[in-house]
Amino acid sequence: MTSQLIKKIVTGDEIRNAFLKFYSEKLHKIIPSASLIPDDPTVMLTIAGMLPFKPVFLGLKERPSKRATSSQKCIRTNDIENVGVTARHHTFFEMLGNFSFGDYFKREAIQWAWELVTNIYQLSVENIIVSVFHEDGESAKIWRDEIGIHPDRIVKLGEKDNFWSSGKTGPCGPCSELYYDFNPEKGLQNIDLEDGDRFIEFYNLVFMQYNRDSSGKLTDLKFKNIDTGMGLERMAQILQKKKNNYETDLIFPIIQKICEIANIDYFSSDDKNKISLKIIGDHTRAVIHLISDGVAASNLGRGYILRRLIRRMVRHGRLLGITNEFLPHIATVGINLMQNNYPDLKNNNDLILNEIKIEE
Ligand code: SER
Repeated sequence: MTSQLIKKIVTGDEIRNAFLKFYSEKLHKIIPSASLIPDDPTVMLTIAGMLPFKPVFLGLKERPSKRATSSQKCIRTNDIENVGVTARHHTFFEMLGNFSFGDYFKREAIQWAWELVTNIYQLSVENIIVSVFHEDGESAKIWRDEIGIHPDRIVKLGEKDNFWSSGKTGPCGPCSELYYDFNPEKGLQNIDLEDGDRFIEFYNLVFMQYNRDSSGKLTDLKFKNIDTGMGLERMAQILQKKKNNYETDLIFPIIQKICEIANIDYFSSDDKNKISLKIIGDHTRAVIHLISDGVAASNLGRGYILRRLIRRMVRHGRLLGITNEFLPHIATVGINLMQNNYPDLKNNNDLILNEIKIEE
């Protein structure tokens, strides 16, 4: 089949569906997104697609199947100051993942990731760079000899970049990441993957094989596992050819509504206003999901995270010149945008709007 006959995958929904379909055809069980409130005392919120599977990786809970795939809603607030400022930092994001619980390992994880991004998402080889953990010769060899990637496209990085763990303790392991190169014409010499204008990391393959204890000691997990994460918003930016994640169909309708209320135009706005628009767009998604999952605004823990996000939205609304109550209108657009994939948003519509109204 020529590529012209294969339907191009563009929208956020198409990207999510194609991912889950691809892995379910590879015998992965589709697991619905878990709550943002994790069943895990070491973290306040679900920060990665693997979090609901942490007890399975640790051998504390039975595996739901040997292979699983999910689109997991996640929230990270450690980089909140970067949200709206960089092209791709978010509080709320959706992480697409495929998981092996003591079943396949590096070879299949790499081969399938490659098949997915080149055949299904149809990215060109010229736009892909991969990184591997510098001590992981096995992965580098698979990329080079079995996938056939030119060695100049394989970058070896240290622990900071290519050894993943969900926290100070717990399951962890070396990883291999796929990056998209927006400027392949610049060549493969002196590649700096930290250059966020040129490269975006979009798919992380973690070879989860150790447990780290509080002293930092690594011991082998009972099984060798796979944990991967593809940022849905990042893949949308790539396939929709947008300058940043906020301009994709996953977030932009919310920004358009804020523009309508503030009576401004996004594209002709200055950087300062654009940042405010992006912050409100980002936080809207986090806030509606947090409330829907049972968080109420307060001065403690998760409740304080919610309160802080809502206050930041109000403040940026003021900076845009909005003086009337506006958050319920914005939240309604967010709920409508996401309710097909997250029906709880529809069921909890009144609860969400009430909580936001009171806080505002
Ligand atoms: N857990 C890894 C990450 O969050 C891969 O899913 O990047």
